[in-house]
Amino acid sequence: MVVSERKLTAQEIVDLSKEFTFFSWSVQGETNPIPVAKAEGVYFWDAQGKRYLDLASQLVNANVGHQNPRVVRAIQEQAAQLAFVAPGMTTEPRALLGRKLSEITPGDLKKTFFTLGGAEANENAIKIARFYTGRHKILARYRSYHGATHGAMALTGDYRRLPAEPAMPGVVHVLDPYCYRCPFGWTRQTCHRECISHVEEVIQHEGPDQIAAIILEGVTGTNGLIIPPDDYWPRMREICDKYGILLISDEVMSGWGRTGTWFAVDNWGVVPDIITTAKGLTSGYVPLGAVIVREKIARFFDDKYLYAGLTYSGHALACAAALATIEAYEQEGIFENARKVGAYLGRRLEELKSRHPAIGDVRYIGLFSALELVKDRASKEPADLGALRKFLLERGVYVFNFRNILFVVPPLIISEEQLESGLTLLDEGLAELMP
Ligand SMILES: Cc1ncc(COP(=O)(O)O)c(C=O)c1O
Repeated sequence: MVVSERKLTAQEIVDLSKEFTFFSWSVQGETNPIPVAKAEGVYFWDAQGKRYLDLASQLVNANVGHQNPRVVRAIQEQAAQLAFVAPGMTTEPRALLGRKLSEITPGDLKKTFFTLGGAEANENAIKIARFYTGRHKILARYRSYHGATHGAMALTGDYRRLPAEPAMPGVVHVLDPYCYRCPFGWTRQTCHRECISHVEEVIQHEGPDQIAAIILEGVTGTNGLIIPPDDYWPRMREICDKYGILLISDEVMSGWGRTGTWFAVDNWGVVPDIITTAKGLTSGYVPLGAVIVREKIARFFDDKYLYAGLTYSGHALACAAALATIEAYEQEGIFENARKVGAYLGRRLEELKSRHPAIGDVRYIGLFSALELVKDRASKEPADLGALRKFLLERGVYVFNFRNILFVVPPLIISEEQLESGLTLLDEGLAELMP
């Protein structure tokens, strides 16, 4: 059936979807999906014509905005010419994208294994790290999300790991640089960086020569937008070098201009051994993920078998979408806008915090930001965000939250005026519902 011949009503779309398809991370009977009919720029419209301002970039991936003409055209042209070939063959978009990724990643990160998304990127990064080092343990953080496949779920530290256990063996979790709720009991003024020294202590207990890699989100996304202190990443690099452990930066959410730079680690001048990424790589137009490794790891496999494979690795349509997305980032001033509007967003969040006692903390870097809402600033007891989300949705503002943490993560093309229209409603909602 061609697109123009489809004609379900909004309710039929919802009903059929609920009856015949599963929705992620939810009790199926309680889901309430928005039937989306079209999107453009920073907005999307439901099937009844209601417009929403997308302050979530869907799932923090539509960095380039919705329906960017350059990306849509590239997909159309590639589909018309050659949509797919087997992964053992190659195509022009795959060749060009491989080279482009080596240019925009820091240091000597050079060679890419393509996947379909973030979880698979992390799965393959673990395999590569284990083959390369001959070691099997992986360190990850508790407040983290690395994907929903079996191994990625084992890396994930948050509540979603527990029902999946026993998961992949060999993963050890460490505590986070979560300054607002410091796991070591300090404040920013009294901090001793136990979040760093603790990692080294865990390494000692676990046996440094058994640890293949440490995987860290560049900036922790879903689990609360946790921005590490400035010396955190450089010191992780030092610790990894000291023990011959590979440093993996999961840039699935924090990459692609979200923090104002290509990758979050660029903010601290650190070169990880492996970057895993997805989401903003194509801004979600076509699924694609990537594992990008440094030259020494690439060379290792020159004369050794790479035990990794996916039918869709290096998918031509996805690579063409990524090339056009990267071209848009480079030629449409998108990261510059993220930095400029991000500075405005930071000022506005501080200002909201100064007026609303329900805001316990605000955290922001580029257009990657969150408000942590509490019942009481002294106890920091988490607030419930159900009513606030409903208030915003009714007024056409779409946000996503993780428990009591509300994210403001719009497409990177948003203007100050568009952002302000959402922040004004957030201000009103906080005043009305959380005085
Ligand atoms: C940091 C991080 N890593 C990995 C993933 C998993 O990516 P995907 O859903 O494409 O498998 C996500 C998804 O939100 C993520 O935020």
